[in-house]
Amino acid sequence: MAAHPVPDAHDELFELRLERWLPDCEAGLRAVYGSDEVPDLLAAVVGVLRTAHAARRPALRVHDQRRLLRPDWFQQPGMLGYAAYTERFAGDLAGVDDALGYLEELGVTYLHLLPLLTPREGDSDGGYAVADYRRVRPDLGRNEDLSRLADTLHERGMSLCVDLVLNHVAREHEWARRARAGEERYRRFFRLFDDRTGPDAYEATLPEVFPDFAPGSFTFDDELDAWVWTTFNSFQWDVDWSNPDVFVAYLEVVCHLANLGVDVLRLDAIAFLWKRLGTACQNEPEVHAITQALRAALRVAAPAVVLKAEAIVGPRDLVPYLGTGRHHGKVSDLAYHNSLMVQVWSMLASRDVRLTVHALRQFDPVPTTTSWLTYVRCHDDIGWAVDDGDAAAVGLDGHAHRGFLSDFYSGGFPGSFGRGLVFQHNEETGDRRISGTAASLAGLDAALSLPEGPARSAALDAVVDRLLLAHAVVMGFGGIPVLWSGDELALRNDPGWAEEPGHAGDNRWAHRPRLPWRRNDLGESAEDRHDPSTVTGRVFQGLRRLTAARRGVAQLHAATGTEVLDPPDPGVLALLRRHPEGPMLGLYNVTERTVHVTGWLLGLHGLHDCVDRVSGERVLVDDAGQVELAPYAVRWLVAG
Ligand code: GLC
Repeated sequence: MAAHPVPDAHDELFELRLERWLPDCEAGLRAVYGSDEVPDLLAAVVGVLRTAHAARRPALRVHDQRRLLRPDWFQQPGMLGYAAYTERFAGDLAGVDDALGYLEELGVTYLHLLPLLTPREGDSDGGYAVADYRRVRPDLGRNEDLSRLADTLHERGMSLCVDLVLNHVAREHEWARRARAGEERYRRFFRLFDDRTGPDAYEATLPEVFPDFAPGSFTFDDELDAWVWTTFNSFQWDVDWSNPDVFVAYLEVVCHLANLGVDVLRLDAIAFLWKRLGTACQNEPEVHAITQALRAALRVAAPAVVLKAEAIVGPRDLVPYLGTGRHHGKVSDLAYHNSLMVQVWSMLASRDVRLTVHALRQFDPVPTTTSWLTYVRCHDDIGWAVDDGDAAAVGLDGHAHRGFLSDFYSGGFPGSFGRGLVFQHNEETGDRRISGTAASLAGLDAALSLPEGPARSAALDAVVDRLLLAHAVVMGFGGIPVLWSGDELALRNDPGWAEEPGHAGDNRWAHRPRLPWRRNDLGESAEDRHDPSTVTGRVFQGLRRLTAARRGVAQLHAATGTEVLDPPDPGVLALLRRHPEGPMLGLYNVTERTVHVTGWLLGLHGLHDCVDRVSGERVLVDDAGQVELAPYAVRWLVAG
């Protein structure tokens, strides 16, 4: 009997994936590019995917299958992220490997290493001006070191996220270099203008991202003999996604990173990808079609990999990044919940949850296959994305509230505990964004400036409580909560931030401190994390308790939606998550008052007998039928 040739299982699976996802890719491309361009483009895409599949390491092919068998891996309640600059966290990639025990101690399952591909020399906007997508920064290690780290992380049940900076490249990147040398193919990779007519027309409706140190959105380049679109800094050249060659070029980069072992690609500044005259050139529909095409292609080549949208946009524009309408479930798997982050700080400053309740209720539900990425702080400044309509709905003036938050967190408001720095004061709009570590914003510097004594102790207690409350809100919201490096140790603003070459003009470096494995000039040390008499120890251990509690709470799976309840008190945020295993009611007292919540609220949701999963204790309704919430108390209540 003639034996049937056995096809390679992975090749067969690849063909099945092509059959499954190529139509989504094609639909995305058709929404963006001309119908005469699509057939050739699709053929080029398939070519890239076949090459990438052939080059994928056996370990990663098995990894793909594991992920496909557990497609909700990134939605699990046990997910906890940690984001850091490699060199500031651990020196280099080998150092990260040595620090994995530290991350495991915290319960981290997802590690975002900020830009680690070779940037331009000199100021590179923290690595966001990439000169070579194919090479890891030499001072951090080699590509092999990144692959090895990815394998180690996978063995330990962790995933790796890296940035895909896809709105712009460094002026020194090969594409830009060849454009400057006059190669027509590469001039078409950018948006060039012979004179100011085009730039002036666009600038009429373009907001400025860095009005202080990079005003305007276009830069004249002598070598190009043209104006080039530069949304961010003059050395970051926006690429032209309306050119299909750009799509193919980025798909190659995406496949290259996927084959190094990356699990999550952070789509940096994704909102800016598509430009349309007469608009703010953000959130244009083509952005979502391009993302759909990229994601579908990636599902074919490397289904273990998911996409994360970094769209720091207003609340109304955010949900489409997780997929609405025809893109439902087909664009990014993860998106930053910038609005929740802003609201956390707004609640702490105003001791009032009503704006937050209204703002969060405006969010449409997100696809159940996706997940928010929630956070208290990140490496960027905080822009007060408070919608004017939301503010008005609760009797506030949006502009005035944003002004209040800037005053409060830069220490200017009477009685304020925040000690941040004003970032990018926009004279025209009055906007003032804020830099600062979570601890400095939550009052640590202010507390430490008090003389020793009971007032200072009380202020320090409040700082610890505020930091834990802020993190509990983002951990109890559902999605992947991500800790920003140093916040787990309550590190303060780095006083020497301006001294490093290229950093002086950009005070975001104040909240990007080096992790103090050895005690630093401020007296901070990672070793204190085990010392309960220190703020560092209290915050670190408090976060550990929260992350350990979170792991076992089925209701925190990201597929479960969050309902924002009417606040039982203006100072208490109440979030309900209905789940087949029963509801979970999260209560957060954002004030330094003791608050009483009616026990009726618990009964209404079937939680007459309930346990607080944070403390592990039963919840007692007092004789007056009330539940007491101490200042800054957090409760995750489930039946039991
Ligand atoms: C993103 C990054 C930010 C950077 C910008 C330009 O917003 O988070 O740090 O400045 O993109 O790449």
